[in-house]
Formats: sequence, C-alpha cells, structure tokens
Amino acid sequence: MASDNILSRLQNKRILLGITGGIAAYKCAELVRLYKKAGAEVHVVMTKSAQEFVTPLTLQALSGNPVHTSLLDPEAEAGMGHIELARWADLVVIAPATANFLANLSQGKGDDLLNTICLATKSPIALAPAMNQQMWASPATQNNISTLKTLFSSDRLNWMGPAEGEQACGDIGPGRMLEPAQITELSASFFNEGIFSGQHIVITAGPTQEAIDPVRYISNHSSGKMGYAIAQAAVDLGAKVTLISGPTNLSTPERVTRINIKSAEQLLETSLLLISTTDIFIASAAVADYRPSEIAEHKIKKVDGEDQMIIKLVKNPDIVATVAQHPERPFTVGFAAETRDVKTYAHSKLERKNLDMIVANDVSNTNIGFNSDNNAASIYWPEGQKELELMSKTQMAKEILLTVHATYSKSRSATK
Ligand code: C5P
Repeated sequence: MASDNILSRLQNKRILLGITGGIAAYKCAELVRLYKKAGAEVHVVMTKSAQEFVTPLTLQALSGNPVHTSLLDPEAEAGMGHIELARWADLVVIAPATANFLANLSQGKGDDLLNTICLATKSPIALAPAMNQQMWASPATQNNISTLKTLFSSDRLNWMGPAEGEQACGDIGPGRMLEPAQITELSASFFNEGIFSGQHIVITAGPTQEAIDPVRYISNHSSGKMGYAIAQAAVDLGAKVTLISGPTNLSTPERVTRINIKSAEQLLETSLLLISTTDIFIASAAVADYRPSEIAEHKIKKVDGEDQMIIKLVKNPDIVATVAQHPERPFTVGFAAETRDVKTYAHSKLERKNLDMIVANDVSNTNIGFNSDNNAASIYWPEGQKELELMSKTQMAKEILLTVHATYSKSRSATK
C-alpha cells in the first residue's frame, strides 16, 4: 500500500475532485479524507446525479471547502467560478467517472460545471472510471475511450483503473472504481518529490510591536521580505509551511499558513504551540529586544511642565534560543544582522543560542538587508560556512533553504 513518502508529495497540492453519478460516489468521502490527511487542499465539484448518491454537505465537511454544483449559479460564480476552479487545480481527478461523463468529455461538452472545468483546465486530468462491466465493454464506451486517448496526450489525460472484480450489480468484470487509497497514491505520483516533502517548516518574520498604551508601541523597520521569501521558497521545495508574522504590508505567499502576532511574547507562545510538529524552525523575525514593563490601560497623556517621559523597559524572551533549548527542539536556524566583525559575532550567536545554523549579514551596507529587495549574507554552521553574494531575496531564500537541507538531512541520517 501507499508509502508515507509518496503521499507527502500531495502536501500543499490543489486537487479538484469531480464526482459523477455512480454508486462508487460514496467512496469519495474516504478519498477526500485521504487527500486531506496527506496535506492536499481539495475542492469538490459534483454533477447533479452525483448528489443523488452522496450529499454535498458530507463532502463540504470533509474537504473544508464549499462544494461546487452549478455552472449557472451567480453566487458561486462570483466566489470561485469555473475558470477560476480550472486554474486553481494542480490536478483534476474524476472519481467515479461514469460512461456518460466519458461520453461528454470525448465530445467536448460544456453543459455543466464539471465539463466546463475539464475543458478549461491546463492541468492534468485523471479519470477513475466506474460502471457495470457490460457498459465498460460497450462499443460506444470503448469508442469514447479511444477518442479521448487520441484527443488528449497521455500527460494531459490519465487513466486510473478500472479494476476488475465483483460489482455493485452482482456482475464480475472490469468496471470497478479503484479503492480510495490507490487513487490517492496514483494522484501523488503526478507530483515530483520536493526536497522538503513531508517536512513542516515554521518561519518567524517581520517586526514585533511592543505596546506602550492602547494606541502606541515600540517597533522597528523590518519589512518581513526575507522571511516571506523563505516561506514561498519552502513551499516550492515541497514543505508544509507556517509563517508566524508580525505586522507587515506583504501578502501571504500562496499555500502558506500565516499566523499573525504582534508582540514577542505572542511570537514565543505561538512558536512553542507548534514546536512538537515543527521539523525546521527559521527565525527571521526582527524581535524587539525590550518591551515596556507595563502597558498603560489608557492612552498616556502629556503632563504639563514635564519635558521628559521615562518608559521602563524589560527584556523580551529570546524566541529562537528558547526553541533551540526545548527538549523537542527542531533543526533551528537564526539570523544575525551585524555592522562589524560579522563572522565573530555570528559564531558566538550560533553557540550562545544553541543554533544549528545562522544566516548573517552586514547591515552597515544600506543597499542590503532590512527593507531592500536584495541581500548578501554568510551562512555559518558548526562544521562549515557559505558565502551568498548580493542577490534578490527570492534567490537568497532558495539558497538558504538548500544549505539548510544539506545540513539538516545529514543531521537526520546521523540520528536514525
Ligand atoms: O540577538 P539577536 O537579536 O541579534 O539575534 C537575532 C536572531 O535571534 C534572529 O534569528 C531573531 O529572529 C532571533 N531573536 C529571537 N528572539 C529575540 C531576539 C532575537 O528569536 N528576542
């Protein structure tokens, strides 16, 4: 049966499951569950007759998304219309695919939502036929199948089964839909394995805001760009990614789960909540070192005759160091912004914070770092170092992750 490894390729993948009206439709509840378990996002489209076999509500509950049933529903079209769904999908799976659906597809019909999606998508379509063995053997069905095989190249249209065996009607022969576990495994095989498939990477990004009173705070100029670029690159390399972000103006990278925080204490709390499921922790947030010792309940007013105001600050927890000292510590990567002696300071931070790796940059150069789109950095780990020349933060994010992967996979094989 499916190895965990191949199923991890489904992480973050977008599966559009089209259900047509056959008795095997009841098995789709299990199919959706398996896709979700493997980390895929699922949108279900049902034909009218499919809804006679299984309710949209069941599939909505299991997929966590509204079920799409109608081509001409203005409300649904305003939300996610047929073209959007066709573009959204990485893979379209039709299970069960009835004889009628195969006939429609072979003729390029666009008379219902599922047909139009199949016409409009650029992604591969996988068909899991299910029908009575005599219907499967019928010259008309076989003719439609040959037409489909001629019309579509094999990388655009794929066949999952049917299997042979006992059928719901009592007949024995080809026409059984493959089992949900087999369909899930075959769906996974459409995707390449990313180097971080099956890994959960948690990234902290952006500034923290430390409240002084209900309307004021202490913060810094961090844009969050580096952390967001790492989140996007980690998804592209197959990881499941959670971004714990301070306030930024950036939009959440696709397929990334973002948790918004404001203060360092919230950042710590969220990081620790996730720690038992985190494989790699990358701390790129610019955490305020200190916070006001007390947050005033009401807006602090100016005091006549007082030209000075003193705010007492207390040290914030060091999030990355706390994570790195935790009994369930993930592979932990920190950042260091320095203005001089970069290597010396980075090495001492690596040791002091018990990190596996540190990415250090020289922020005395104003062309790079904080708000810029570019960065140059040196990466240090106990056994080595790597220089990354000036490049875009997008490119740098990928380079950092490739370096993390090399050391991380060595440390994992050493502990196995
Ligand atoms: O000590 P310094 O602030 O230079 O360390 C920077 C690294 O430590 C970054 O990875 C930053 O995200 C992390 N950090 C943290 N919690 C703090 C301060 C820094 O996680 N309170």
